[in-house]
Amino acid sequence: MNLIDTATQTSAQPSRSKGLAQTQTISDLSESQVAAIRKIPPHDAAKPRAIDARRPASIFLSNERFELEQANIFRKFAVPVTVSAILSQPGSVIAHEGYGVPLLLMRDKQGVVRAFLNACMHKGSKLVEDCEPHRAGKVTCPYHAWTFALDGRLVGVPREETIANFDKADRGLAELACREAGGLIWVMLDRTAEPNFSNIDDELVGDFNAFDIPDMHVYGRKTFELDANWKLVQEPFLEGYHVQRLHARSVGPMFADVPNVTSVLGHNIRQISGKINFTPDCLDIEGENIHKSVTHAYLVFPNTVIVTSPYYISVMFIMPKAAGRSVVDYIMLTRGEADNEKAADVYQRSYEMILNVFGNEDFRAAEISQKGLSSGALEDVVYCGLEETIPLYYEILERYL
Ligand code: FES
Ligand SMILES: [Fe+2]
Repeated sequence: MNLIDTATQTSAQPSRSKGLAQTQTISDLSESQVAAIRKIPPHDAAKPRAIDARRPASIFLSNERFELEQANIFRKFAVPVTVSAILSQPGSVIAHEGYGVPLLLMRDKQGVVRAFLNACMHKGSKLVEDCEPHRAGKVTCPYHAWTFALDGRLVGVPREETIANFDKADRGLAELACREAGGLIWVMLDRTAEPNFSNIDDELVGDFNAFDIPDMHVYGRKTFELDANWKLVQEPFLEGYHVQRLHARSVGPMFADVPNVTSVLGHNIRQISGKINFTPDCLDIEGENIHKSVTHAYLVFPNTVIVTSPYYISVMFIMPKAAGRSVVDYIMLTRGEADNEKAADVYQRSYEMILNVFGNEDFRAAEISQKGLSSGALEDVVYCGLEETIPLYYEILERYL
């Protein structure tokens, strides 16, 4: 192993004990979230509009469109790469490859997260070969053992006296602009582009802080490789139309067939909806877990989905690989480790259930759509009133294409 003091990190804050009992009520949420929740109408008063919205099938199929998105969005804006919780402790190190740029994220002893290219400054070897979290005081290259500090400085070179005209200070790791906010870590993938964090919205960060995302715990993580355009993978998280249909035999019966309360937060989308049991009065029951009656779903520009559930939060980084291929890094966050049997059981069953629903239903829908669209049967796709957030979100993307 090429990390000094390596220990696989499995827990966010071992001393913390936050089991199922620690639920959130409406008063824990941000003002902006509460205002949106108060706008959810009773189900019988929620009427979707009829809309006329289409997009050419080529936005999911064409290589030109894919390249344009890469150049004008994924390389021009900072993109969310992972959750803070995966690097929760000082000395946490993780490599990341999802965007095709080999990244190395490191949290230093003071708690600051930085992003670097995962390339040794001797002859370029990858420093960390896997993409699992580690704890490390320093990072040592597996090849000739050059050693770098957590802030990227080169601090050790074996047989340094044999290199003439050499100053370690000139060979620190190549750093990328990076910011941590609301429990997510954003990175500029292009080192030569002007750092652009304008997509990180204060209200969005306020919502995530209210959920406590920065202090949550990584319960589980799974990678999905999908034969589908990244936007087809996102679409089911921007609409409720499919829920009672695609998910008829799983979670569908828990949700109502009504439009969401949608807010545009800068470049990002927030959707709030009442579950089947929701009535406006249920918000004022003292001590009631708000996540039992209300679901929040966020689209964090350009490609990250965050969905709330009663006892956990799902985060999905949907990373484009090619016009018809993407990789999803799914992370389930809980308020702490399971500190009793009931919590362990609820988390375990939730994890299996959600991987099944997303993996075998939503992601499958994306893959079968990609297949059908690739046949050339459709010139365009058409969206209904229960899907109106999709074209709304595409208008944001299209500003940059
Ligand atoms: S390539 Fe890293 S020390 Fe030689
Ligand atoms: Fe779904």
